Amino acid sequence: MTINGQHHEITIRNTRSEDIPKIVNLQKESFPYLAQYGNIWHPSELESHLHVFPEGQFCAELNGEVVASATSLIVTLNPEYLEHTWKQITDDGMLTNHNPKGDSLYGADISTHPKVRHEGIGKMLYDKRKDLVMKSNLRRMISGGRLFNYCEHADKMSALNTLKR
Ligand SMILES: CC(C)(COP(=O)(O)OP(=O)(O)OC[C@H]1O[C@@H](n2cnc3c(N)ncnc32)[C@H](O)[C@@H]1OP(=O)(O)O)[C@@H](O)C(=O)NCCC(=O)NCCS
Repeated sequence: MTINGQHHEITIRNTRSEDIPKIVNLQKESFPYLAQYGNIWHPSELESHLHVFPEGQFCAELNGEVVASATSLIVTLNPEYLEHTWKQITDDGMLTNHNPKGDSLYGADISTHPKVRHEGIGKMLYDKRKDLVMKSNLRRMISGGRLFNYCEHADKMSALNTLKR
């Protein structure tokens, strides 16, 4: 990756427990709105992710700094497009519902620090997820997305129309 004309190496690797404070800081920068309400990963949740599914937790390192991270778990949805909330599918953020015998990799969270966005780091993390899907012989990858601030418009407009605008 080139910043101010200088080449910098990005390393994508599995998250380790010593990364947890760095990921909490990254979350504050990446989700400032949610951070105001404490709706970002807590250290205890990140510890739980590493406990239940270390192979599914990735981060990006740039010059010793954690600049992006991605959280995943394995689930089976029945029926296969079962409606769910983020809270349900992540077992309230703990991923304790992770099922190693499941058939779908579920992307629970991804963020890149605002100062290094649009440099392909998000894609690199997704590529790691795809490798994991192949290696684990899973059927698919699923990710949920958020319509930022939709709650402020929900009484006036459907989610689909909000997306179209
Ligand atoms: C989404 C996010 C992880 C992308 O990270 P990134 O490292 O910039 O990703 P990449 O550089 O690989 O790809 C960027 C591409 O993703 C797409 N993209 C990024 N954010 C998007 C958004 N909010 N809506 C639609 N597309 C988006 C664009 O096509 C963009 O292409 P561009 O750089 O040509 O504009 C980053 O923008 C982020 O952290 N956002 C805030 C946190 C968030 O919303 N996370 C997802 C929900 S958990």
